[in-house]
Amino acid sequence: MRSLLFLFALLFALCTHPFFGEAQGPIMQDVLDTNNNTVQAGKDYYIRPVPTSVSTICRRPPCPLGSGFALNSTTPNKTCPLNVVVARGTGQAVTFTPVSSTNNNQDITTNSDLNIKFDVKSNCPESTVWRLVSDASSGQRIVTTGGVIGNPGKDTVNNWFMIQKDDDDYNIYFCPRVCETCKPVCGNIGVFIDSNGNSLVAITDQPYKVRFDPVSS
Ligand SMILES: *[C@@H]1O[C@H](CO)[C@@H](O)[C@H](O)[C@H]1NC(C)=O
Ligand SMILES: *[C@@H]1O[C@H](CO)[C@@H](O)[C@H](O)[C@H]1NC(C)=O
Ligand SMILES: *[C@@H]1O[C@H](CO)[C@@H](O)[C@H](O)[C@H]1NC(C)=O
Repeated sequence: MRSLLFLFALLFALCTHPFFGEAQGPIMQDVLDTNNNTVQAGKDYYIRPVPTSVSTICRRPPCPLGSGFALNSTTPNKTCPLNVVVARGTGQAVTFTPVSSTNNNQDITTNSDLNIKFDVKSNCPESTVWRLVSDASSGQRIVTTGGVIGNPGKDTVNNWFMIQKDDDDYNIYFCPRVCETCKPVCGNIGVFIDSNGNSLVAITDQPYKVRFDPVSS
């Protein structure tokens, strides 16, 4: 009898293990900033590319020279909307808003849908909330602005991103789970150099390692 119980326990463990229970999604753990503090919703962070990933993604020039995520116009005539680029310096501060926050828990966790917003003023009419769009001129899916915070569902599916653990660092991934009937084409958020030499943040084959630098206030 005891061995039978053990067998059931083992079977149960195997069946509920994350590897077998894909529907549950990967394990969620706190995202840590570069001071090893948990990343908090609503606080300002710089998204910093991990230097090593620049050289692995870019095999021929022009390579992304950037060291921080920022907003910029990427058309020759500097038109709106602004797109997310990798620029020199620290980049511009972003805030994260999780799809659901339970018990006022503002800890940002891996593998869960969240909105990302640049905490900056812009001269364009669009919001500074990240949104994935297909760029007609390059054929790439790029991260632009004009998204909304919250309102999870079909209409906002392109506004949700997630943070994944990547060795000692993280990467950003597009694979929203906010809409059961949508079939989003998931992909890594990396850097794509367009024909004007902009380092556009876009869907790429390779994951792109990043860190989160708290903005000292
Ligand atoms: C954060 O934790 C890692 C792993 O424990 C350690 O290597 C690193 O030095 C820590 N960084 C800071 C700023 O404390
Ligand atoms: C935007 O791009 C222009 C060049 O196209 C550059 O001079 C400017 O510094 C960029 N702004 C930011 C915030 O990176
Ligand atoms: C950019 O601006 C120039 C000068 O104002 C104009 O002639 C040209 O048509 C514009 N190009 C685009 C793509 O809007």
